[in-house]
This record gives sequence, C-alpha cells and structure tokens, in this order.
Amino acid sequence: MPGKRYGYFDNKAKEYCITRPDTPIPWINYLGCQDYLGLISNTAGGYSFYRDACLRRLLRYHYNAIPKDNPGRYIYVCDGKKTWNPSFKPVKTKLDDYKCRHGLGYSVIEGALDGLRVSTTYFVPIDINAEIWSLTIKNEGRKSKDVDLFSYAEFCLYNAVDDSTNFQRNWNIAEMEIEGSAIFHKTEYRERRNHYVGFWCSEKIAGFDTMRDVFLGKLNDYGSPDVIKNRKAANSVAHSWQPVGSHQVKLSLKPGQTKRLHFVLGYIENPQDEKFVSPGVINKKRFYDMIAGLKTSAQIDKEFKKLKKFWADALSNYQVTIDNEHVDRMVNIWNQYQCMVTFNLSRSASSFETGMSRGLGFRDSNQDILGFVHIVPQRAKQRIIDLASTQNHDGSCYHQYQPLTKKGNDAVGTGFSDDPLWLIVSTSAYIKETGDWTILDAPAGYQDVPGSDKNTTLMDHLHLSMKHVLELRGSHGLPLIQHADWNDCLNLNCFSKNPGESFQISGDIEGGKAESVMVAQLFIYSAKELNAILEHLGQKDKVKEYTRQADEMRSAILKNGWDGKWFIRAYDHFEKPIGSKVCDEGKIFIETQGWGVMAEIGIEDGKAIAALDSAWQYLGDTNGMVLNQPAYTYYRDHLGEITSYPPGYKENASIFCHNNTWVVIGETIVGRGDKAWDLYTRICPSTKEDKADTYKCEPYCFAQTISGHDSPLPGEAKNSWLTGTASWSFTALAQYILGIRPEHDGLRVDPCIPPDWKKFTITRKFRGATYNIKVSNPDGVMKGVKKMLVNGKQTPGNIVPIFKEGSTVKVEVLLGNSK
Ligand code: BGC
Ligand code: NOJ
Repeated sequence: MPGKRYGYFDNKAKEYCITRPDTPIPWINYLGCQDYLGLISNTAGGYSFYRDACLRRLLRYHYNAIPKDNPGRYIYVCDGKKTWNPSFKPVKTKLDDYKCRHGLGYSVIEGALDGLRVSTTYFVPIDINAEIWSLTIKNEGRKSKDVDLFSYAEFCLYNAVDDSTNFQRNWNIAEMEIEGSAIFHKTEYRERRNHYVGFWCSEKIAGFDTMRDVFLGKLNDYGSPDVIKNRKAANSVAHSWQPVGSHQVKLSLKPGQTKRLHFVLGYIENPQDEKFVSPGVINKKRFYDMIAGLKTSAQIDKEFKKLKKFWADALSNYQVTIDNEHVDRMVNIWNQYQCMVTFNLSRSASSFETGMSRGLGFRDSNQDILGFVHIVPQRAKQRIIDLASTQNHDGSCYHQYQPLTKKGNDAVGTGFSDDPLWLIVSTSAYIKETGDWTILDAPAGYQDVPGSDKNTTLMDHLHLSMKHVLELRGSHGLPLIQHADWNDCLNLNCFSKNPGESFQISGDIEGGKAESVMVAQLFIYSAKELNAILEHLGQKDKVKEYTRQADEMRSAILKNGWDGKWFIRAYDHFEKPIGSKVCDEGKIFIETQGWGVMAEIGIEDGKAIAALDSAWQYLGDTNGMVLNQPAYTYYRDHLGEITSYPPGYKENASIFCHNNTWVVIGETIVGRGDKAWDLYTRICPSTKEDKADTYKCEPYCFAQTISGHDSPLPGEAKNSWLTGTASWSFTALAQYILGIRPEHDGLRVDPCIPPDWKKFTITRKFRGATYNIKVSNPDGVMKGVKKMLVNGKQTPGNIVPIFKEGSTVKVEVLLGNSK
C-alpha cells in the first residue's frame, strides 16, 4: 500500500511542492549559485554564509537542537488575536493552507489563515551577495485587516565553530547599527573584519529589535517571543550577547487587497581605508548601492527572472523527452541541480554536514566535476587546476583543501591511495566536454615547491599521478591502500584502539602493507583515459608505456584479485584477502565489481558478467545493493572504521548509493539495460515518495546512504544532497543508460536501456552546437546502434562528429541487432 505523501513534483514549474510541514526530517533546498550561499528547509529553518560555511557564516543555526532545524528566516504574522508563521514553525499555529515550493536556487513558503495569505520567495540574485525575502500578502477575507508582520534573522559571529563554542569572548562583542529601516550587524568590524551584514526592509518600519533576549523574553523559545506576544517591537540595540535582526511592519489590507514588500540581507566588504564614515560608524555606501538595485518589487521580479533564466540555461545543455517520470525529473531538473549544489558546496553544509569540519575533498571535488562540467565548464577548469595545485612533487595529494586559501589541509595530510587518479578522470571529462586542450598546459605548481607553477603544468600532474600509484605497490603487485582508498572506512593500516581518534588519519602508513584492488582497477581506467589524451597529442611512446603498465596491473588483478566468481576487494596488512570467499564476514564488496567492469576486465571471458551476477545475488537489496556482505558484526582493528558501524549502516553494508552507480555503469557496459535501470530506480529518490515515512530524506535529491537489510530499520536514507552519488548518478543515467557521452572526437550515442523503452529524444548542447538526437528502439533491444543518420546522412559507428559552433544537428538513431 502506498504510504503518506508529503508533496509532489511539479516539473512544469521545475519545483518540488511540499504540502505538509511535518516532513519526516526537514526537507531542504539551497539558495545561491556561487559566493553567497544558504540552506532553507520547508519550515524556513536554515542559514547563510559567504563562500565558506565555517569561516564566514552570516546566519546562525543550532545543531542537534530540539526542536530540530532552527533558527531560520522567520516571518511572524499577527492578525486579530492570532499569531502564526507561513512556514508553520516556529509558532506552529495550525494553518488553513501551507505549502513550500523548492525550486532551483529559490524556495517559496506560503501559509494562509483566517483569510490572510502570506507567501515569501527566498532567493539569492545572480551576482549579488545578498538574499531576498520577497513577500506577497493578500487579504482573501471579507473584512479589512490590520496586520503586523515581524521579520527575524539571527546573526552568527562569522566563525561558526567559535560562535558555538567560545562564549566567554563572544557574549561580549556584538555590535549593531540601526539606520531607517536597515539593521547592520558589525561585530568585530571595529577591529580586523572588513565586512558587515545589512538587513533592510522595503517598508517604513514601526520598530525593530536586534537583541535576541529582548525579542524572545525570559523562558521563551522561537515559538513564543515576547515581542510577538506584545505585538510591539522593543527597539532593542544589541551590545554584546546575541545579535539578531527583526523589523516590525504594520499593514492595513482591504478585502481582496494584495501588498508586496521585501527584505534584503546583504553581505558587504569594505576596503581597509574606507571602513568608517566617523569613528566606529560603518561606511554604508556599498550597502545602499546594493539596495538601490533592489528597492522596488519590479527590481526584485527582474532579479528573480534572471535567476530563473540562469537555471533554464544551465539545464538546457542536456534535456530529454521520454515517457518515464523518473528520468524526466532527475535528468532534466533535479539531478543536474544537485550536481551544481555538490560542486558549490562539496561536503560542507547540509542537514548532515555542519559546514564546520572539512574543506573540499580531493577525490570528492574531482568526482563532482563529472556531473557538473557540462553546466559551467569554466568553473570546472579552475577547480581542476586548484586541485592539481594541492599535489606534492612526489605525487601525493592533499586529501582536502580550504576554498578560501586554496591550500591543502595539513591536519588531514596526504596518503589516500585513490586521490591522484581522480585528477586524470576529471581532466579527461573536462577535455571531452569542451575540446579545450589548453587545460593541459595550464600552470599548476606543487604545493610543497613554492614557485613551481612557473614550470609545471597540469599535464605534469597527470603523469605524476600515474607514477605515484605505480611506485607504491605491495606484495601482490597491487597499489598500497595507505590510509584508505575511495572507501574511507577501509583503514587497513590504522589499528586504532583509542576512542574518538580519526580512523582516516591515525595509524602508520609508512610500513603499511595493505593493498587495494579497487585502486588497481581505477589505475587501468585512468590509463585508458590518459592514453586517449596522449594519442590525440601524438605521444605514441607514452601510450605504449601506459598500456604496458595497465596490462601489468590487469595481470596482477587476474592473478590476485579474482576470487572465482567476483573481484576481491583488498589485501590487509597481513596480506590476507578482504572480500573473498575465504573471509568469515565481508566476503564480497560492491566497489570492485563495478570498477572491474568499468576497467573492462573479463568482458570477453565472462568474469565481468559473473562479477555483476554475484553482486546481485549477494548484495541485492530492495533499495539497491549493499556495500558488503555479510556485514561485519564486531570491531576489527585491522579493518578500521568499516567495522565500527553497526551492520547495515554506512560503509558496513548499507546501500551506499555512490558505488551503486558504478554497477549501473557496469551493467550498461555488458549490455544489460534492464538490470542497469532496475538498479538505478532502486536508489533513485524520486521513486521513494510513497515510502517517505521510512525513507525520510528528500525525494528530489540523492542520499549518500540507505540503511541495508542487516539494520533493524532498513530503508532509511541519510546524508542527502552532498554526496558523490549526485554526479555519478547523472553520469550513469545521462551518459550510460541514455548513452549520450562526450568523446574527444564527437558525441557518442550508445544507449543501454530496458527493452520496453521504445523511443526518446535528447537535446544536447555540446561544444557550441545543438544536437537533437532521436533514438528509436522498435525491436525492443537493450543496446546496439543499428543505424545512425546525421543531418539525414547515414554515418557509420555511433559517434556524431563535432559540428561548427552555432549549428543545429539532427541525429536519428535506430537501435537494433546489427545482423
Ligand atoms: C564516513 C565516510 C567519510 C569519512 C570521512 C566517515 O565517518 O563513514 O563516509 O568518507 O568519514 O569524512
Ligand atoms: C564520503 C566521502 O566524502 C568520500 O570521499 C568517500 O569516498 C565516501 N564517503 C566513501 O567512504
């Protein structure tokens, strides 16, 4: 029986419409596309930051608090005797109507009670460092209404960690200014900060508050502030304690009358010598210049339109018309959107990431490029160069770097065996998408050799990555795993006995003997990608050398990495296999089954199919494939964090969606479109709407993990939004199932679909030309291009050649058995 639904997809509007405030967990969305970023939940909880969620946090958020998800961007409404929020929270007065529409870079939260309807559109305009709360208030009743509205935003003292820990200092430093209808947060501006926040209202205000304890009053929470109870702002000016911004606006509305007003919360930086107009008083010129462009409702509408256009353009590079609602939603809207979000935020700020811990991950950000590069290739290019510049001259890569400094993070350091190879994977994807070979000559130095960017290029880094992996091999001829490979929880050299210590970075990897089959497979895949680049450059000798190295690695895998029916996962420090039939638990792992096929090992002799079949047989779960089986039931210090998780969770036998996509791709490589699609739908969030009470996370974005069948509560998703699943699931569906895949010399059309998909059409913008590709499958095959017409001309193979910028290309593809 289908379970309770909390909303629906509105594809036409490109929105997910949430119809009840009591979603299983807050269902969030993101505001902003580049520098000014924010999160917002369906009940208006959330916060904002400028570039760095930890170091430049603008609005405060309480973690692990009860009730969940506060504070937020609140609008309090006082109408007659009732007080309410259109977002339901925090007052929680029962509403006559509620909806939250999460769109691309904006959210609209609307509530109605007793004939009054208040709708707020929250968004960050393109290229402006501000967020807008744009309100429409309508009197739908038959009597005139005198209404009081109050805004509420709570300021963070910029450094989010310090803000939530260092109270002995912080409760002494807050400073504000109030000028007309603008509230200015200027904590630490008196000393070393050259930035402040202004919170402005388009209406003349009846009062304001900037001191949280005055606004709330004693013993109260956000649901029952004194100011709201009194219906009267106290005009409090915060000196120290907790600075907030609240405006009071009085409105009179005739029956049927609609009014609009808006709030602007803007972030401003001033040059050092222009900070003050008089001692201690902020020079607000830049803020008022910003407001000048955001004064009227017409200006706000114009900015909102720009945002919509930005997203329409961004998504237009890949659009499919198909009779399948999940493909439609995911490819055309939500998965591409999630790819932008993961590119922007990496793993920093979500409902599961506080934005206070890690920087940008080396492997994460390289993989994020795969699903993003077709959206804004220029930004992907810069990211690749930044990442390469955190590699050391010996080939080791900093596992994380800080976006504000672009420097590798010493606290985490290097020594993650897969990191170097992902640079090849992302660079290859960038060149295939853009044909921009100049990236290879882009200067990118080594982090440990200052000035080396003068004589080091990205190409040098790619060679170095291969060399580094090759140099560090173990007794089975496989790459040493070091701290971990892609699976951060296989810590085979760690032997941690101390609670709380990081599994990832403790342990001596110098003498560590453990090896990774997955990195060996990734090496073969990377060699192929790199060779395609080198062939284009005419460097035959190098191609030969990498082919030899890849062959050697393949032999090592066939000798030591094949277990009879599936690929082994790794060798531990004692040179014993992991993910083998000889193990008592963890006999089989998913990663090496997907990557084995992606590295094209055993395609001819049946090993590839056997590996995939074993994955289905032993790892299959209603929600996808679990990571390993049997799950580890007790802690083993020679295996690390993976055995720290209870069975069915995270890396210990949950459905870790990221690696399911590799099996999806593997299935398309062997031509089993039905199985590829089956697995895709199992992890696909849009198929979970009827199971929302179990699944819990948002149905419009992929989650990292879904608890597996070993858990007492199977099917619960966690860690939605910021996961490598975003870009890999887009790659799996767009490039491998639908099969439109950029190559160096053209656009490959190689769908691998369920036999009952009879036709679909794709518009793909590629290197400046627009390809309209019509695929038909009258014979109901799963794979195989029988005939391809390009602009009416039969063309051999399945690669559409590159056309001139600005041209429109008509491609007709007939699938079928070629015999
Ligand atoms: C998680 C991994 C993650 C690692 C590093 C672990 O606790 O299980 O998924 O990669 O932390 O952040
Ligand atoms: C999440 C991490 O961000 C990623 O780097 C890692 O590969 C996966 N977890 C698997 O452990």
